[in-house]
Amino acid sequence: MCGIVGYVGAQHAAPLLVEGLSRLEYRGYDSAGIAVLTSGKPRVVRTVGRVRDLEAALPKRMAGTVGIGHTRWATHGPASEENAHPHQSEDGRILVVHNGILDNAAALRERLSADGITLTSDTDTEVLAHLIARSDATTLEDKVIDALRGVTGTYAIGVLSADHPDRVVVARNGSPLVLGIGDREMFIASDVSALVRHTSQVVHLDDGELATVTSSGFQTFTADTASVTKTPETIEMSADELEIGGHQHFMHKEMHEQPETVRRMLTGRLDDRFATARLDGLELEPRDLRAFRRVKILGCGSAYYVGEMGASMIEDLARIPADAEAASEFRYRNPIIEPDTLYVAVSQSGETADTLFAVREIQRKGGRVVGLVNVVGSSIARECDGGVYLHAGPEVAVASTKALTHMAVGFAMLAVALGRVRDLSYADGTRIINALKEIPDQISAILDQEGAIADVAKKIAAAPSLFFIGRVRGFPVAREGAQKFKEISYRHAEAYQASELKHGPLALISEELPTVAIVPRDDLLQRNIGAAHEIAARRGPLLVVTHEDVDLGDLEGERIVVPKSEDELDAILLTIPLQLLAYHAALTLGHDIDRPRNLAKSVTVE
Ligand code: F6R
Repeated sequence: MCGIVGYVGAQHAAPLLVEGLSRLEYRGYDSAGIAVLTSGKPRVVRTVGRVRDLEAALPKRMAGTVGIGHTRWATHGPASEENAHPHQSEDGRILVVHNGILDNAAALRERLSADGITLTSDTDTEVLAHLIARSDATTLEDKVIDALRGVTGTYAIGVLSADHPDRVVVARNGSPLVLGIGDREMFIASDVSALVRHTSQVVHLDDGELATVTSSGFQTFTADTASVTKTPETIEMSADELEIGGHQHFMHKEMHEQPETVRRMLTGRLDDRFATARLDGLELEPRDLRAFRRVKILGCGSAYYVGEMGASMIEDLARIPADAEAASEFRYRNPIIEPDTLYVAVSQSGETADTLFAVREIQRKGGRVVGLVNVVGSSIARECDGGVYLHAGPEVAVASTKALTHMAVGFAMLAVALGRVRDLSYADGTRIINALKEIPDQISAILDQEGAIADVAKKIAAAPSLFFIGRVRGFPVAREGAQKFKEISYRHAEAYQASELKHGPLALISEELPTVAIVPRDDLLQRNIGAAHEIAARRGPLLVVTHEDVDLGDLEGERIVVPKSEDELDAILLTIPLQLLAYHAALTLGHDIDRPRNLAKSVTVE
């Protein structure tokens, strides 16, 4: 939510800032702005709308080699030019961009107003510009430290001062911030995707750290001005991975990348000799894995639903109790943390505030939490006690697809690793390992059905409301299918356990309410077919997502057939057609698929 960028060097800052913002636009896209120092004089351009609108609003010549920029996802106040960042002090000499939320902003606004300061926006960020300007300290660094002492909440900020035109001062607490090291130039961004075109050398700031960034480098320090030594890391992402290629949308590109990225993810991690998965990043020896008596998975949104798939894989294969919970709920309910529970935080971005807070809550109470995270070097990845990188590559579309598939595959590997130090036999381990090897080609086979799935999507896109039903292993699939559908089609889509239909929701079934039924060929097949018949008997239109050789009898309606995996892993593949279904429904409805309304990719606020 919100992306910030900065530049200090010898090139014109404005185009670099705009280019960086366009890479971060998935973090927020309701308004954008930049500030550049032109011969020491601040120039600010802010617009409502997309980064391309900002670009169009820029003057032809906007000289200046130091600047900051921001793309906003509104939290305090509507999307308007006044609320867009950068925000300025009254004299316009201090400029601030901010990602995060200041909890005490209302009180600070009141105090500033009482002191005669005219606030020109509804935002929490503006108070920072005034507080920095009012500090008596002489250096910009000390002024920023002074101001931050007065605020509570989360932030990643970039501060520009007309009185210190050679630098940008940045600070981090709870929102991500990374510095990119160039050749006599420095870049600042919320994440590496905005830097990767210019440098592969980066430094991640940690909470409580600040940095002075000049063209000759950076100095990191804490609020008590103690200097902090940071070692640059090399990022492995290539700039090409961020291009849309021949696809109309990033979501489309990312769905179609899945066979390749999953194949890459599995490389070197499947151990035929011992019929297990090698997850060295967990930093857990077999005896440690054996000691856990329970697994608790925490994630938000779709990551939580995939966590539910993971919990059932772990129960099936390792035979230890496992469950998933929304991290956003867990963190607020004073959870009991058990020393013999393995906690797993699952996140694409690695920056979801609720999941990060859950990690910290577990650690505060002495629990062990490992991460299943996609973004390398992200906060959750760094704060967990070991983990597994998902290696899905950058995911730009707000609606997650490939990262979720990677999470599900990651859970399958974790389940087999936990199982093989318990009762999972060599034969069953081999059965699962071999099934995992098939997954990339099986995903390709589903993607090959895109045309047929698009035809079905066109038919159901018009329905104002849909049910997605599944049972046991199929229920998280239904939940994720409904989630994807509502996110980008803006249609009401509700997931229900097939087993619960007759306890209430059956009353809603009619010709106007299509149901997507997940009907895998497993031990619950007949029960799921029964539920589909109950719907058909009430004239409810049906789309059945099923496997080859399933006899649905005289059931009318649409059908999508996916390749069969092992029962324990079926959820991975059953989810893929639902991505395509949501995509094509949204396409039919003419929605902005990569940037759905009201949503942002990385939810770094509570
Ligand atoms: C759905 C979606 C969200 C995320 C959720 C968690 O398509 O993208 O529901 O899954 O916000 O995000 P991460 O995985 O970054 O923690």
